[in-house]
Amino acid sequence: MNLKLKLVLFCCVTGFFSVTKLNAQSNYTDAQIAFKSDSLIKLMTLQEKVKMIHASSSFTSGGVPRLGIPELVTSDGPHGVRIEHGRGWSELKNVLDSGTYLPTGVCLASTWNPKLGYAFGSVLGSEANFRGKDVILGPGINIMRSPLNGRNFEYQSEDPFLVSKMVVGYIKGVQDQGISACVKHYAGNNQETLRNSIDVQMSERALREIYLPGFKAAVQEGGVNTLMGSYNKFRGQWATQNNYLINQILKKEWGFKGLVMSDWGAVHSTTQAVWNGTDLEMGTDLSLGPNPDYGKFFMGDTVVTLVKEGKIPEYIIDAKVRRILYVMYKTNMMAGQRRQKGEYNTRAHQLTAEKVAEEGIVLLKNEDNILPLAASVKSIAVIGYNADRKQSFGGGSSQVRAFYEITPLQGLKNIAGKKVKITYCKGYNIARNAGPDEALIQQAVDAAKKANMVIVVGGWTHGYDYDVWADNAYDAEDVDKPNMDMPFGQNELIKAVIAANPKTVVVLMGGGPIDMTQWVDNAKGIIQAWYPGMEGGNALAKIIFGQVNPSGKLPVSFPKKLADAPAIKLGQYPGDGKTVNYLDDIYVGYRYYDTFNVDPQFEFGHGLSYTTFKYNDLQINTADKQATVTFTVKNTGAVDGAEVAQLYVKQEKLNLRRPDKELKGFEKIFLKAGEEKKVTITLNQDAFKYFNDVKNEWEMDPGTFDFIVGSSSRDIRLNGKAAL
Ligand code: BGC
Repeated sequence: MNLKLKLVLFCCVTGFFSVTKLNAQSNYTDAQIAFKSDSLIKLMTLQEKVKMIHASSSFTSGGVPRLGIPELVTSDGPHGVRIEHGRGWSELKNVLDSGTYLPTGVCLASTWNPKLGYAFGSVLGSEANFRGKDVILGPGINIMRSPLNGRNFEYQSEDPFLVSKMVVGYIKGVQDQGISACVKHYAGNNQETLRNSIDVQMSERALREIYLPGFKAAVQEGGVNTLMGSYNKFRGQWATQNNYLINQILKKEWGFKGLVMSDWGAVHSTTQAVWNGTDLEMGTDLSLGPNPDYGKFFMGDTVVTLVKEGKIPEYIIDAKVRRILYVMYKTNMMAGQRRQKGEYNTRAHQLTAEKVAEEGIVLLKNEDNILPLAASVKSIAVIGYNADRKQSFGGGSSQVRAFYEITPLQGLKNIAGKKVKITYCKGYNIARNAGPDEALIQQAVDAAKKANMVIVVGGWTHGYDYDVWADNAYDAEDVDKPNMDMPFGQNELIKAVIAANPKTVVVLMGGGPIDMTQWVDNAKGIIQAWYPGMEGGNALAKIIFGQVNPSGKLPVSFPKKLADAPAIKLGQYPGDGKTVNYLDDIYVGYRYYDTFNVDPQFEFGHGLSYTTFKYNDLQINTADKQATVTFTVKNTGAVDGAEVAQLYVKQEKLNLRRPDKELKGFEKIFLKAGEEKKVTITLNQDAFKYFNDVKNEWEMDPGTFDFIVGSSSRDIRLNGKAAL
């Protein structure tokens, strides 16, 4: 084999890619911080306290300069530091705000590599710090309930366990750079349709088993400093000012010590926000004009009046200020504390972006080993608007002005050099209501016929025109996709191209599934590239040319068609205009497809490699309601590669209905050709519990459990049983 396949072992290169660790969080103990904060609060006037609990500009909260308390500077977003807005909302010109554009959240989750979560967070933390930010407004971890959610690209997965594992690394990575992460959007913000008014209803069990675990892990394992409430209502009360979600669960049950900020414009009432746990109000009433009076915010002057009238006790305002100060002390923001500057646009940051893309891009189908490219391929027709489209500046608040962005076409050209001839034609137009364009299709067909093989790059995109902020198309904030159909006449294009040249690989960009039924059986190769960041084109090309062996796995099920998706089938989605009831309950994603025997197009956890893996020697040892599961994985192919071994658990006899199986452990194993490794996964009691919403507590029923080890949720390699 003359292909030089190489999969760089992450453990060998962490040192190389990692960001210099300049800033840890402060060394003060919580008791010291409490003492210092209380001393400061005693010196503050009521007006000064109230200034701290609402915005002082588009992205800052108020400070108290005479006491050395600065403004808290926040910035989006989940996969790069957003452009500079100054104190208002208009883009600043001629400032250094083009930075590292990382792959978006769903691509990160597809790596199934928590160490990369840490590396990713470190880049963000370092660049946010360099840009003078104190809080980076990410990670976004809402569960992908509906394939249509316009923000799925920012989020991570349909599975709470995978989210919980990935989010911790991300948060620690950010916060080890000395600044705060902000986990968002808490909670139940699983659609953009009517996000500012919809009332989300769900069972307590669905809340606890599906929608909250990621947030709980962010707080208890990640130690996240800040959290953002969401726009929607939850059980009749706005989520950002929701007593149950914030006071009861987040602060009391989970012991969250940091600050809760509103989503931008998500506060609707002074008294509810004050009483129900909101610590900082951001983004309200953007029509305040060029010199807004931020005192008019709900948590502004009205609070001063109500305290003076004795209607709100001052201690409740003190508690909010204390939480804000806690975050400030933690991140070395206060007078006398020092934070070293982060780094910007370093090669190491760019290489982390590339590494995440290399491990996050998923090879969905590879019939006749069409990939990696055979040495005999001397000409490629690259077809599709997305091949030459930069994606970083679209999508809404997570937009990034990228220092550079390697498109798929550029990446392919970079590797092809003079050896392989590349012809490009765009094949379709990205424009509102654009349908099949016969002339473009004909051009593509002609190019396809002349080339040894074809790579079509299509899928979703972030809006039509990036000069219009969030211009409401696919994979953008504030709007869901209208359906799962391929937009812009791409089905017609792909079918015509495959008919012209069967050696066609389809590369899909986007934040989630798309309906491929019209051509999926005829396309020999399919790659899910997500939005792979500034180095995405290089990463994709390395996979196509076989310089990198793909190892990404789907963090979300791809249904065949929209009607199969549980949010649609069991409903409701998007609700009746006022309320959305999550009748699909705990059956989100593969929990539904597997339990109800519905075949997805590509299942959760699926992703192919250029090598093969053999699983052996499953052993399960149980003691004290815990299990240690061991097995071996061998690379039985000719090239180095990485496998994500997934461990699912199923209880045999049920007292309460449960999904067919649930992910409870995984490990990404890097194996040289021929190499074998032993994998050990320890499951504590939590892995076997469910939430009993009659008793309102987590419960474990002793009994026999199946331990199901797979290369995906449906490609099961080992199966064992043990009693617990
Ligand atoms: C989004 C948040 C974002 C905030 C600030 C809101 O519209 O929902 O995710 O952090 O704006 O830009």
